[in-house]
Amino acid sequence: MSRILNNLERAGSIPPKEELPAHVAIIMDGNGRWAKERRMPRSMGHKAGVERVRGIVKMCDRIGIKALTIYAFSTENWARPKDEVSILMQLLIEYLKNEMDELNENNVKFRSIGDRSALSKELQAAIDYSEKLTEKNTGLILTVAINYGSRDEIFRAARIMAEKYKNNEYGELTRECFEKELFTESLPEVDLLIRTSGEYRISNFLLYQIAYSEFYFTQTYWPDFDDDEFALALRSYAQRSRRFGGV
Ligand code: FPP
Repeated sequence: MSRILNNLERAGSIPPKEELPAHVAIIMDGNGRWAKERRMPRSMGHKAGVERVRGIVKMCDRIGIKALTIYAFSTENWARPKDEVSILMQLLIEYLKNEMDELNENNVKFRSIGDRSALSKELQAAIDYSEKLTEKNTGLILTVAINYGSRDEIFRAARIMAEKYKNNEYGELTRECFEKELFTESLPEVDLLIRTSGEYRISNFLLYQIAYSEFYFTQTYWPDFDDDEFALALRSYAQRSRRFGGV
């Protein structure tokens, strides 16, 4: 992979570091359709999806992206057939168990956002272990959203803030008081939001945090979203003029 990346970089395909987004968020969609097109069970699509997670994480680390946040399981995904939910949970556990040592060696800081109380004890333990193991790392911040929903996150933050306000914990109520209670509290703003598979929706992902993000939508299914496709998204981002409401 690094040979291909070197070639890409030589060809100028990856924008220079100062033009890269600091924080990339990805809605990884299309695993099911990818599998269906190949007459495979949906679980094979999710497995192929995990392979792409591996690849994209490596690429982010290598090219110097500061933060990558990926949507692995939403609060709405519980509505899927029980078997599929359990396969997704198993894949998450395996990913954490198989990848964490290497991620740690590469100075990656792992975090998970979402309501973990509904997750299995095994998955909760794997998340806790991974966060603890990598907490002092200073490289890529890899955030995996599991049982995450943005409306829940915003409501939760408002409730905590109201509670603290009642207890006179604030001098003055500011936006920072609220932002501090979001799961993403320590992350930079999302610069680039990518959604694969030709769907043009946000699906309850980081609603507050994408206020000024650039959006990139592609028809490509997630398992086919390879390093070249990612480089294309980064080039598209680098060409945009961000005005944040100014002129
Ligand atoms: C959407 O495809 C994908 C998901 C709901 C799950 C994403 C999960 C992974 C890529 C694997 C686990 C993640 C990690 C971090 C190891 P879909 O099933 O909705 O596809 P469809 O719309 O074509 O049916």
